[in-house]
Amino acid sequence: MVAGCGREQHGKYLIGFSQANLGEPWRVAMNAEVAEAAKAHPDLEIVYADAQQDNAKQVADVENFLRQKIDLLIISPNEAKPLTPVVRRAFEAKIPVVVLDREIEGDTYTTFIGADNRAIGRAAGEYAATLLGGKGNVVEIKGLPGSTPAHDRSEGFRDAIARYPDIKIIHDPVANWLREEAMTQMEAALAAHDDIDLVYAHNDPMAIGAYLAAKAKGRDSTIKFIGIDGLPGLDGGRQAVADGKLAATFVYPTGGKEAVEIAVKILQGDSVPHRITLESERIVR
Ligand code: FRU
Repeated sequence: MVAGCGREQHGKYLIGFSQANLGEPWRVAMNAEVAEAAKAHPDLEIVYADAQQDNAKQVADVENFLRQKIDLLIISPNEAKPLTPVVRRAFEAKIPVVVLDREIEGDTYTTFIGADNRAIGRAAGEYAATLLGGKGNVVEIKGLPGSTPAHDRSEGFRDAIARYPDIKIIHDPVANWLREEAMTQMEAALAAHDDIDLVYAHNDPMAIGAYLAAKAKGRDSTIKFIGIDGLPGLDGGRQAVADGKLAATFVYPTGGKEAVEIAVKILQGDSVPHRITLESERIVR
């Protein structure tokens, strides 16, 4: 058992969960999954913080948790580099740390849980090549540059299409994971290029934003859209595939349930893996 003031003070284990933002549906789903999984563990108390996409706020949120003497930290970091020192500080103070979905730099955490973004990017690239018959112009819409999934999803995709010399990325703006920014970026892409065959966006909200921009210009039927996340529900990527807006999405599990389960093991003193890789899945119509 991990000795901790949190438990001594509250009679429960105190877990601090630092979320990068709650403006995006995928993160709301992650929090809901954590809360649902925690119901099975009445000896856990989870305190939540929302960093609102602000690295400095997220650092302050974790520092605040440390002052509250949490027994364990769960964090989904906004960007890797700015969050690495505070995570290291927690870990070196012997507070177990579970890192979720986006990575930090280096190794100073207990367990990382997330899907393999490079593999998802590669799968998206392979599917794009299939849809294009090995030839065409691609717009890649990128997530927040300092967050590791944006980097890995780009590299994986580019690795895969490198085998197809007639597939070209003609435009690759950053839209920071956000639908509205992707709409604006896609408007610029449409204005600059008459010949766009496929949009690969690093998440579904950006893919849907790009689709809406193309639709507004009457160009949605000549362009294929691929996203990532595959959330269920009316506004989710699965529905967008079912409706024919997106050609495909790739499920990106939030890992909320696994984070709670691993936290319980750590607090019980069980040994846990340093990395847990979650499975993805391609969703097509
Ligand atoms: C939400 C989100 C997801 C994406 C993940 C990557 O903040 O943008 O849409 O898959 O983060 O970390």
